[in-house]
Amino acid sequence: MTLWGGRFAGEMSDITRDFTGDTSDRRLIRFDIEGSLAHVAMLGETGIIPQEEADSLAVGLRDILEDADDFEFAQTDEDIHTAVERRLGELVGEVAGKLHTGRSRNDQVALDLRLYLRDAAAARSAQLHEWVGSLVTLAEASAGVVIPTYTHLQQAQVTSLGNHFLAYAWMGVRDIYRFSDCAMRLNLSPLGAGASAGSTLPIDRQQTAEALGMLGPIPNTLDAVGSRDFVSEYVFCCAQTMVHLSRLAEEIVLWASHEFGWIRLGDEVSTGSSALPQKRNPDIAELVRGRTAGLIGDTATILTLQKALPLAYNRDLQEDKRIVFHADDTITGAIEAMIALLTGSEFAVPTPSSGTSALPIAERLVGRGVPFREAHRLVGELVSRLEAEDRSLAEATSDDLRAVDDRFDISDLDVLQFEPPPIDDQLNELRLLLNQTLSRASRRSGRTR
Ligand code: ARG
Repeated sequence: MTLWGGRFAGEMSDITRDFTGDTSDRRLIRFDIEGSLAHVAMLGETGIIPQEEADSLAVGLRDILEDADDFEFAQTDEDIHTAVERRLGELVGEVAGKLHTGRSRNDQVALDLRLYLRDAAAARSAQLHEWVGSLVTLAEASAGVVIPTYTHLQQAQVTSLGNHFLAYAWMGVRDIYRFSDCAMRLNLSPLGAGASAGSTLPIDRQQTAEALGMLGPIPNTLDAVGSRDFVSEYVFCCAQTMVHLSRLAEEIVLWASHEFGWIRLGDEVSTGSSALPQKRNPDIAELVRGRTAGLIGDTATILTLQKALPLAYNRDLQEDKRIVFHADDTITGAIEAMIALLTGSEFAVPTPSSGTSALPIAERLVGRGVPFREAHRLVGELVSRLEAEDRSLAEATSDDLRAVDDRFDISDLDVLQFEPPPIDDQLNELRLLLNQTLSRASRRSGRTR
């Protein structure tokens, strides 16, 4: 059933219908009905339609909502909006024709997507809480495991594996903040903007906005139906989160190699090779890294979709939902798999090269008043002298030190007995932040759902 047959004498062809329709938006069904319920309540209260009719529309809509999981599209439905209206007609009869009073699918879909994303942002935050929580637990367990840090993928200094995990925990915290910041800008209602410039009927935009737990109506109707920057923001938040996961995934791939040998992947999270009997592959990490490409692509796609669109609504915008659904599905699977991968593996890191103590040795000299640049040069000379004899810093003797400069002291080599820096303060701060953002998130979802 099309909703706009009046001005056509002939039927739309199957090709046109199949090409232009999109039923992947069935994921919006609950939000579509939530928006319609607010809309019909307003139509009744303002007297735009009789109250009894508004009531029977609401009853029909609630029936559809109850069976939303089993909702079936008819072959002729163009999208979720037409499908729900068609179904409503089957349930409540002719009065269903009043549902769309003072409304267009353009403001309807702009609303549905906002409602969907408001929920999705809260869901992503909840998953990220779990992710950051797992990293915090892992960090605590590996606070005493000494690892080299890398710059240019060359061993640089030393820290603990726990501290390394916490770097990702902080990225995850910022990802959570980004989602909640993005959700703030979702919380205005496009309803009442109609097709592009509102309606001549006395609709109450403030009322529908408030009924949906939103702050108010979007002031400009063209902006309300034509803008999708809120979608771009959301997709970027997903992409940035995925890029963070991907960096750690890349490290896990490296760590799982024979050359690094930092991690032994658990059986439950490893994959084998069909050809090479000895293999234990980090496929989860590789696929997280690989699927990040899709998320980066989604960011480019959503921006490109908008870049040449004249105001206000254009059908191109129908494509925005597939991008969002793809981003959501990808990231959901990736977070879950990464948590399983990390918690299902064991870490054993070889001792870092003694070269990682070069800076602390130089800083001993600095403590004795030697200018840093000179201390840097002196330790460089020491390293080079040892290297010429195929020895490491750990093997330096007091003779070696004296041969380079008499301001060295044999006790300077104590720094080779590295104690990982404490991470307790970070752990405490992260736990506090997780509690705060969690309670904020549950307050918010309590208000809107
Ligand atoms: N399925 C459409 C979309 O997602 C709904 C809006 C259709 N509007 C229209 N004027 N054809 O964008």
